[in-house]
Amino acid sequence: MEAQPITTDSYVLPGCWMLLLCWHSMLKLHATFCYLLLLLSLFGLACSDFPFIEDATQSRLKSEYDYIIVGGGTAGCPLAATLSQKFRVLVLERGGIPYGNPNIERIERFEQNLAEVNDSAPAQEFISEDGVMNHRARVLGGGTCLNAGFYSRCSDEYARRAGWDLALVKESFLWVEERVVFVPVLRQWQAAVRAGLLESGVLPDRGVTFDHLIGTKTSGSIFDQQGHRHTAADLLRAANFSNIAVLVHATVSRILFAGSCGGLPGCKPRAFGVIYSDRQGIDHLALLSSGPSNEVILSAGALGSPQLLLLSGIGPAQDLASFGIPEVLDLEEVGKGMADNPTNAVVVPSPRPVELALLQIVGITDFGSFIETGSAPASVLAGGLLAGTTVPPMNRSRALTDQIMSQLRAIQNTAPSLSSQIGFILEKVIGPLSNGDLRLNTTDIRDNPLVRFNYFSQPQDLDRCIRGMRAIERVINSPAMATFTFRRVADIPEPLMNAVRLIGNMLPSNTADSDAVARFCRDTVMTIWHYHGGCQMGRVVDKDYRVFGVDALRVVDGSTYEFTPGTNPQATTMMLGRYMGIQILRERLQSEPKV
Ligand SMILES: Cc1cc2nc3c(=O)[nH]c(=O)nc-3n(C[C@H](O)[C@H](O)[C@H](O)COP(=O)(O)OP(=O)(O)OC[C@H]3O[C@@H](n4cnc5c(N)ncnc54)[C@H](O)[C@@H]3O)c2cc1C
Ligand SMILES: *[C@@H]1O[C@H](CO)[C@@H](O)[C@H](O)[C@H]1NC(C)=O
Ligand SMILES: *[C@@H]1O[C@H](CO)[C@@H](O)[C@H](O)[C@H]1NC(C)=O
Ligand SMILES: *[C@@H]1O[C@H](CO)[C@@H](O)[C@H](O)[C@H]1NC(C)=O
Ligand SMILES: *[C@@H]1O[C@H](CO)[C@@H](O)[C@H](O)[C@H]1NC(C)=O
Repeated sequence: MEAQPITTDSYVLPGCWMLLLCWHSMLKLHATFCYLLLLLSLFGLACSDFPFIEDATQSRLKSEYDYIIVGGGTAGCPLAATLSQKFRVLVLERGGIPYGNPNIERIERFEQNLAEVNDSAPAQEFISEDGVMNHRARVLGGGTCLNAGFYSRCSDEYARRAGWDLALVKESFLWVEERVVFVPVLRQWQAAVRAGLLESGVLPDRGVTFDHLIGTKTSGSIFDQQGHRHTAADLLRAANFSNIAVLVHATVSRILFAGSCGGLPGCKPRAFGVIYSDRQGIDHLALLSSGPSNEVILSAGALGSPQLLLLSGIGPAQDLASFGIPEVLDLEEVGKGMADNPTNAVVVPSPRPVELALLQIVGITDFGSFIETGSAPASVLAGGLLAGTTVPPMNRSRALTDQIMSQLRAIQNTAPSLSSQIGFILEKVIGPLSNGDLRLNTTDIRDNPLVRFNYFSQPQDLDRCIRGMRAIERVINSPAMATFTFRRVADIPEPLMNAVRLIGNMLPSNTADSDAVARFCRDTVMTIWHYHGGCQMGRVVDKDYRVFGVDALRVVDGSTYEFTPGTNPQATTMMLGRYMGIQILRERLQSEPKV
């Protein structure tokens, strides 16, 4: 079968029109102007950033590649760019392109991006069975198109535990950082919280570093200093353009397997392609070209990858049977170990305005709790983050969130200064140790699976939260924060207090009472969207990310983690895409690839 054409009509067509126009105007003796235009259009064609991205409706019904990557997200994009140096790569992404969407590209639209949750929006909402509202990405670039931008590497210890080659880890981090990472300049609020962390003993001062070290630091961001977001999709610029095709609005519904040999020993089912559907619901077939090393690689994220394995017949036999899915392999561990780091935030009313900055600094405590801080107008803050956390998880609802959001927007419109007098400080638990599972709800890949995280089911997680809340209290009471806090609750102006009550929670009044703080931790728990697991290393994939029990199939994304890497995962997840790309090239070329 012929391979996919890798150019888009959208760039070629204007060029052709220009040519015609020139021909026509030449006769009218406007040639100079016209040649200039033609030159410009050719220049545009040569420089168009992504001539290899196409909508799936335009793709062939059948095509062949050396690698098929499912999910053009945080790990998928760097992986694809790297593999394309030597092999023909197809990326299938269910969402659209991020470019030109201001909700994605602008920092002040962070909330709006998460609030728009219709069937075609980049953010897909899901509510875990714990009752906590959450989001997953549906766009080229994945989570990096929705996230708060904070960039911080995993520790060397984490990398060693994962069995990674530390030198290649370092190289891969640098490769990512060169392309999409910036160092923020701290303004008033972020600088004050940073100083407050130091004053309250989260030491030493690590200055500016991407490394994971105990103490307080400023880290990187994928937002540049102008507030423009850079994403994993930008990493596709590093691809070999003649070896890669990226299809957007291509939703993979099934991985295809050949030859289970009726369970004969030593004979494994082998992935040979996938089925994906376009926006019109038409199914297409993408196949691996012949070659013993060609592979399908899932990078569909912590919800997407286990869900797709289940729908393709790999998972607990009983669960597959209950949905009538033909079993390819009984693999009990698919969907197990789903975890989301419990996060609790405290809202801080301030006499002075705080600046628009999402996350720029972190305090890495020695007791397993990370302290971060956000500052932004109230509605930006609340959007995905806090709204709803004023009631316990099982009482939350979309209706409640919508109601809060519209009230906050009203405040922002009528009293913009008031809406910027709110900062928040959050605490995220390392790990976590508590976890749950993922199961299918329907057999439609577009529907969310059922996910349960069991927040705080392990006492150690709860203990870390309690200590984290006390650390936040010390920061709020530190001298560095004096100009950002009211001395007494009675000093807080009534309208500001109303906004604060709407948006979230202030510290519990008696933080010495462990039971009261524990209750606060449980009742105000939210997500910081670092959920992971479902295809964990050692349970679903081996140390080379190959799925146990089948051939030609790997998973490379956040679903493979047992614990979240670093303080926030995106750095390590982009790194992992690059890292595994290089490892696969090395394995295959049996030598150092020059890429
Ligand atoms: C709102 C928010 C804020 C966050 N803030 C931060 C932060 O500040 N710092 C940080 O480090 N991390 C942050 N994170 C977390 C981080 O962004 C994620 O952990 C990371 O992006 C996950 O990467 P991934 O490659 O595992 O999955 P993703 O990036 O989600 O990639 C999966 C991709 O697969 C696609 N896909 C899924 N199923 C299919 C299918 N069947 N067919 C085709 N395509 C499919 C999806 O559309 C998606 O593009 C945040 C996340 C969110 C949502
Ligand atoms: C869905 O959301 C997207 C952007 O987030 C928006 O462009 C589009 O108009 C919305 N569609 C509907 C039907 O509301
Ligand atoms: C890109 O791929 C083409 C086609 O395989 C190959 O000829 C070319 O050498 C590659 N370019 C680089 C820079 O590796
Ligand atoms: C939460 O819901 C339960 C059961 O419906 C109810 O008893 C309780 O009062 C609610 N709590 C809050 C804070 O809304
Ligand atoms: C599960 O599917 C049912 C039926 O389609 C739907 O009503 C329900 O909302 C789904 N549950 C979740 C958590 O998505």
